[in-house]
Amino acid sequence: MTREQRKLDHIRYALELNSGNRSTGLEDVRFLHNCLTPVDPDRVDISTRIGSLKLPVPVFIDAITGGAQEVKEINRRLAAVAKAAGVAMAVGSQYGAVKEGQYADTYKVVREENPEGIFFANVSALVSPDEARAAVDMIAADALEIHLNAAQELIMPEGDKTFSQIPDNLSRLQDCVPVPVIIKETGCGMAAEQIRELQARGFNCFNVAGRGGTSFAAIEAARGKAKRCEKFADWGIPTAWSLIDAAHGMQPWDTLIASGGICSGWQAAQAIALGADAVAMSGSILAVLQQQGEEAAVSYLQDVIADLKDIMVLTGSRTVRELQQVPLIFTGDTLAFIQSRGYEPQFKRKH
Ligand SMILES: Cc1cc2nc3c(=O)[nH]c(=O)nc-3n(C[C@H](O)[C@H](O)[C@H](O)COP(=O)(O)O)c2cc1C
Repeated sequence: MTREQRKLDHIRYALELNSGNRSTGLEDVRFLHNCLTPVDPDRVDISTRIGSLKLPVPVFIDAITGGAQEVKEINRRLAAVAKAAGVAMAVGSQYGAVKEGQYADTYKVVREENPEGIFFANVSALVSPDEARAAVDMIAADALEIHLNAAQELIMPEGDKTFSQIPDNLSRLQDCVPVPVIIKETGCGMAAEQIRELQARGFNCFNVAGRGGTSFAAIEAARGKAKRCEKFADWGIPTAWSLIDAAHGMQPWDTLIASGGICSGWQAAQAIALGADAVAMSGSILAVLQQQGEEAAVSYLQDVIADLKDIMVLTGSRTVRELQQVPLIFTGDTLAFIQSRGYEPQFKRKH
């Protein structure tokens, strides 16, 4: 199985399997309506930051693809959608391109499509500092994502299972590029303990990419290579739980990004109210793009942003920071998670 074929399989099975009705935990998170909202809709400010990078909109398209001729067109169309909707976008893993110099054009196409856009490079946690710099240079990236995907590598027969080398290699990558570095998961979430370790190693931008949407265990099982691993399709920390855990350890200068099963402005607002500075979507936007086309994908993102703004008005939040501070009501398994971790339900992230 070549890497190029695997890239095509990932797109195919991500679309076929969709989110598989996995729970994000966000269904257990409710807002309190503010009947005296002081916020007029035209005063809502949704700008945010990832480290030193300013984003006009707190929603972006997260890493999906690149690295095979057949997916170049998907990256071009995603970049066109990002441009029309005014959002940032991450490319998929540039591993093959920086290791073997292959298919760089399948990533560079995003910059050609949107020269002024905000783009994130994406590499594995085992690249060298030079390879990380090459990934950033390839697309003149505004930030670098480094992905953690232990579940996928474990399950893929051809996966790289040298997990014990990752923490020390990450330390080599800290500060290796002149743009913010985001440590991201890929659908299994992050717990407070590992975020603390990453902070101790000098990182300050985290994308939890929790359970609730795309599942690489499900994708690998469907590819027929790892049938035994079907039972790991639901493995991981649900996105809401991961955000609650992460928010407890965030320092005022840290950035928290929510992803994993986000497909609406409502969920984006819930994720921000749990402490996220920005929200990312992969599987849901890919599905709309591939099944309904570019125009539909743009209006889908526009609706997500419009719904987020309406919820900001109805919770009395003029800014993303204010939405992070609104009271929330927790029910179900997410309330049980809060209690079993010894947290206060009304805890709010420090700023
Ligand atoms: C087809 C596909 C390919 C992906 N490839 C990558 C990748 O190369 N690098 C990466 O960091 N994440 C990759 N991801 C993971 C996403 O960036 C995201 O973390 C994960 O899918 C959870 O978000 P979602 O539930 O909105 O899809 C991929 C996701 C999909 C659907």
